[in-house]
Amino acid sequence: MRIVVMGTGYVGLVSGACFADLGNDVVCVDVDPKKVQALDAGKIPIYEPGLEEIVARNRREGRLTFTTDGTEALGTADLAFIAVGTPSSHDGTADLTYVCQVAEAIGKALRKPGTIVVTKSTVPIGTNGKVRELIAGATQLPFHVVSNPEFLKEGAAINDFMKPDRIVVGSSSPEAAAVMDELYAPLVRTGAPVIHMDIPSAEMTKYAANAMLATRISFMNEIANLCDRVGADVHQVRRGIGTDPRVGKHFLFPGVGYGGSCFPKDVRALMGTGRRVGLSMRVIEAVDSVNEDQKHVMVAQVQSALGEDLRGKRLAVWGLAFKAQTDDMREAPSITILEALLAAGASIRAFDPQSAETAHAVFGDRITYGKNPYDVLPEADALLVITDWSEFRMPDWTRVKAAMGPRPVVFDGRNLYEGAKLREHGFTMYTIGRGVWLAA
Ligand SMILES: NC(=O)c1ccc[n+]([C@@H]2O[C@H](COP(=O)([O-])OP(=O)(O)OC[C@H]3O[C@@H](n4cnc5c(N)ncnc54)[C@H](O)[C@@H]3O)[C@@H](O)[C@H]2O)c1
Repeated sequence: MRIVVMGTGYVGLVSGACFADLGNDVVCVDVDPKKVQALDAGKIPIYEPGLEEIVARNRREGRLTFTTDGTEALGTADLAFIAVGTPSSHDGTADLTYVCQVAEAIGKALRKPGTIVVTKSTVPIGTNGKVRELIAGATQLPFHVVSNPEFLKEGAAINDFMKPDRIVVGSSSPEAAAVMDELYAPLVRTGAPVIHMDIPSAEMTKYAANAMLATRISFMNEIANLCDRVGADVHQVRRGIGTDPRVGKHFLFPGVGYGGSCFPKDVRALMGTGRRVGLSMRVIEAVDSVNEDQKHVMVAQVQSALGEDLRGKRLAVWGLAFKAQTDDMREAPSITILEALLAAGASIRAFDPQSAETAHAVFGDRITYGKNPYDVLPEADALLVITDWSEFRMPDWTRVKAAMGPRPVVFDGRNLYEGAKLREHGFTMYTIGRGVWLAA
């Protein structure tokens, strides 16, 4: 099939590259000329494991190209995917500026009847209706609109795309739905369902899925904070509840709060949809406000251990990206945490395996960046572990202790370490819901 993907970010690039890998002819379009130039030169603008190889292979075989102008490709496309960003606007609702721009551009460029326009971006209920209107206002040709929300996770995006749990297709056109079945057939041979539904339900499914996952995180963060107050261990509690199949074991890990380009904005967008129709989304609002508070838990721990005034204190930080296996810093909890610590006067040296560049765009030279985990430790009063990269899981504690200052404190924001073991090594350790372990 001939496919055009409008927007070549995390979702557009992964989708475009994977569709090409399945044998389709794919043109990826982006308004950012630097991004297109980089991709044309074989450079991948984001860190996503496995992506570079897929892009290189399909460029080499001529199935994947990049451009800033999709007009020509859209003229002959069977499918035009919309994969542009839908960031939060000032009131928390989804900003649909890019989606609307792309819909108009598609409408103007269509040259053959029956093109299927597929919205992959996460968009509020009713947006595909708006997309249809905008395209119809720019062309006399018949076309179809399909909602096909994306569920890939950054850091595991290729695997998620190629081996999906399910594909959601919202459409009122049996013809378009059949083409979507054909497109995804190679990915669902092992039995994952293509779930067909109406367009508003498909739009809602994406928000409900992300809001449910965010709810589990905020719920566990609240339980963890309570564990800390009453002397229970959230790790044991998590195992105790996760073995119940009605609860399930996934997404029960407390931490420093969720971040990234999806959960925070999608939770807020759902609240915005509720407001628009006069329904207060009380659970979702609580999920959001618990998360905002959770980003301050580690800051409060640092100040209770080292004092309110952090001038003269050296803090080492492991992990800046919003989660492991990505360089994405959008709404990363590290931003809230480090900004508060900088405001209190701390001096900060941080290491993240992939986000040095994206983090520099946020913090500039207000913090310094190490080249490896041990690089940031010398003379540090404390070590803050913010992202659970696997290389932080089993550090050489003897080496860490030797490098740090005389009374080192570890703030384990991801519950990676055992308190008893760190105490033996001479650290004081703060956890999320597993108590404080004072050095002997
Ligand atoms: N990132 C994820 O993990 C993820 C997962 C599932 C769904 N989503 C959703 O997918 C959508 C895209 O997310 P993302 O993370 O890929 O965003 P992104 O910001 O990484 O990429 C969006 C791209 O669109 C480009 N763009 C903007 N206007 C354009 C236009 N008029 N024409 C062509 N390109 C244009 C931007 O330059 C950018 O490169 C969002 O709605 C998001 O909620 C994201």
